[in-house]
Amino acid sequence: MDPLISAAIHARENAHAPFSKFKVGAAVEDDTGRLHTGCNVENATYGLTVCAERIAVFKAISEGARRFKRVAVAADTEALTPPCGACRQILWEFCGDIEVVLVNLNGKSETVRLGALLPMPFDASHL
Ligand code: THU
Repeated sequence: MDPLISAAIHARENAHAPFSKFKVGAAVEDDTGRLHTGCNVENATYGLTVCAERIAVFKAISEGARRFKRVAVAADTEALTPPCGACRQILWEFCGDIEVVLVNLNGKSETVRLGALLPMPFDASHL
């Protein structure tokens, strides 16, 4: 299996999702090939919940990574789970138009570019 996909599936096991019970894992691959993982971490206030994708990206940034090639998102759903709007914005900010690999636990996967998920993005070029 693609190591990026197995990293996302493995990270999902650490999800802290007592409220939604919806566990998500993510993995981002930086330009050196290193994988950075994340899982969703929920909060009793709900609104402070952070998605798996943002945790993976922020972990990567905090470890010094700056350029990225791909991100994988894993959930236990028949219809593949795409990143939420907030995560699309954060992924664009730090990763640009990368490949987004959506996977489920049955081996189904689909790859789309972030630009297709977030057309006409706002970013620093507009400031
Ligand atoms: N979630 C993610 O972590 N990533 C996604 O791509 C979709 C949603 C989380 C947030 C929340 O903990 C749970 O899934 C239900 O929305």
